[in-house]
Parts: sequence; C-alpha cells; structure tokens
Amino acid sequence: LASAPPIQLAEMYFQLHPEEVDPVWGNPCDDARHKKIWSKTKNCDSLPKFLVIGPQKTGTTALYTFLSMHGSIASNIASPDTFEEVQFFNGNNYYRGLDWYMDFFPSGETVAMPNNSSPMPTQLGSPRYMFEKSATYFDGEAVPKRTHALLPHAKIVTILISPAKRAYSWYQHQRAHGDVIANNYSFYQVITASDSAPRALKDLRNRCLNPGKYAQHLEHWLAFYPAQQVHIIDGDQLRLNPIDVMNELQRFLKVQPLLDYSNHLRYDVKKGFYCQALNEKRNKCLGKSKGRQYPTMDERSGKLLQRYYLNHNTALVKLLKKLGSRPIPQWLKEDLSTGT
Ligand code: A3P
Repeated sequence: LASAPPIQLAEMYFQLHPEEVDPVWGNPCDDARHKKIWSKTKNCDSLPKFLVIGPQKTGTTALYTFLSMHGSIASNIASPDTFEEVQFFNGNNYYRGLDWYMDFFPSGETVAMPNNSSPMPTQLGSPRYMFEKSATYFDGEAVPKRTHALLPHAKIVTILISPAKRAYSWYQHQRAHGDVIANNYSFYQVITASDSAPRALKDLRNRCLNPGKYAQHLEHWLAFYPAQQVHIIDGDQLRLNPIDVMNELQRFLKVQPLLDYSNHLRYDVKKGFYCQALNEKRNKCLGKSKGRQYPTMDERSGKLLQRYYLNHNTALVKLLKKLGSRPIPQWLKEDLSTGT
C-alpha cells in the first residue's frame, strides 16, 4: 500500500479515470452524505425551479422582464460581466463550481424582501419560483447534460421565432455592437461564407445560423428532460400577444397566485412593442437594444435561409406533432410554404 501527496494522488486518479476529468456537478441534496457536509447557509430550494434557455434574439429579455414583474417569481442577482445572465452551464463559468453559481441565488426559498419593481404585492414568506435566463444555453452542447445533473426537476422554457429572422436579428445585434466583421460584410456575405473564409467571419456565420437548427437542439434537451417539463413559446405570440403567453406560462409553471398581465402590460405605439404599464399614462419599455430599427432582410438572403432551414423546419414540425398538443406556429407554416 502506498500513498502520495494530494496533487499527485489526484493526477494518478485522473489518469485512471480520464472520463471524470471534466466535472459534472450533481445536486448535493440527492445524497444525504453530501447534504450533511454542505454549508448550513446553502439549500437546494434556492436553486432555480425553471430555466429560460433562449435562443438569443427570440425575445428572451422581454420574457425575463415580464416574469420578473411577478411577485412570486425571482431571478438571480445580476452578474458583473453578463448582467442578468449567469451563463453558468455553458463555457468556463461551469468550472467555477456550484458555490459560485449558488451565490447568484441568495434569497432562498421564501420571499424575504418585497420586490419593489413588481406590480404585484409580494407575500412575505410565500414560496418563490427562482429562475435563471441565459439565452446561450439553448444550443450549448454540454448544457442539457449539466443542467439535468444539477436540476433534474427544473422546467425548461424556450422561445422560437423564424430561424431566418433570428439569424438576421443576431447580425444586426453584432453590427450595433460595433463588430468589425458584421460591419464589413453584408448579411448575405456572412450567411454564405465558406469554410475557407477567415475564422472571425465563419464564427459570425455560425452564431447566425446554428442556433436556428431548432429541432436538433430541442431533441438534445429532450434526451435529458421529459416533454412535460419543456415549454415552447412562439416568439411571435410573445411579441404580439404577451398577455396570453404569460397566462399560459404561469399555468405551465404552476405558479401561484396568477398575475393578470392584462393589467400590467400595454402596447406602446412609439416603441412598437408591449411594455410594462407603470401607471395610466407611463410605460416602461425595454431599452434601445431590444426592438431595434433596421432595414428588412434582402430577398436573396431570405430565400437562401428558407432553403437552408427547410429540413430543420420540417423536422421541427414533426417534433412538435410528436410532442402533441403543441400548435404549429404561423411563422413555421409560412417558412415552409415558401421554402421550396
Ligand atoms: P430585434 O431587436 O431584432 O427586433 P433577446 O432579448 O432574446 O435578445 O431578443 C430581442 C428581440 O426581442 C428583439 O429583436 C425584439 O424583436 C423581440 N421582442 C419581443 N418582445 C419584445 C418587447 N416587448 N420589447 C422589445 N423587444 C421585444
């Protein structure tokens, strides 16, 4: 029998078990021994009960804002780097560990403080539905496996709009953020960039195109979560009819009490979107970066994207039918009807 200093032992261990080099954080409350040695200040009830997973540019900020108006729903505290999004389950933040993640959810199981920005009276001591919205989760390769290991009972909420529109909105987003590639190449040039194009151009092309392969990404989530735990929002409905969307979402989440959003959301003519009604006259809309003004997509790009997404959209229709009782969004019918 031999021993070695801890680092050396760890190295030997990982040589024997290379499959464990990449950690997967499990839920400490699933194992009584883990729970026992866990810090008294932590408890599993402060972990999110649902995740809004994106994808980017589908209306995730609007949904996040509307959810945060609900007195019984609370999100994480803001991250200094990525603002409302924690972006834990994708990328390098995951390696910061569970305590790092949980520090974003300090208030725990019950409403300890009234939510002053909420139009709804907060009931102190009532259960809270903690949630997290990170729009990059949707198409993150490792994300469903990781979220399932920690949050197997969480509900998963996603928003879908026409993937072509989503791609264009992302391109416009990058232009507005001063991205050199987006400002030097037309949308058509970006989406038709070949694999031999410069790296940065290919990256932008991929960020425009890949998240829109909805069926593929959803199948990946559904390999980990049962369909009853997954809620799909039609992003066009969220934009045009958020009151019904929020009612349906509250029923799915089984959140109590129900907030009647018709008293709190109002169409703002100037913004061209629904906004939070602060009082009879004033609305609070999302910032300039949400609901941007830009030229409509050129016809050539529109046609190309319809062809590009044809198989993906066909697979999405099949998937929605298989999942049952999910209406086929109008944008999906339209994308398919002209995509031949
Ligand atoms: P555009 O700015 O391209 O119009 P995300 O928050 O996921 O980045 O999505 C941004 C998109 O949300 C906007 O894209 C806009 O179309 C859409 N959206 C939906 N409802 C909205 C609302 N009430 N206010 C502002 N934007 C909204």
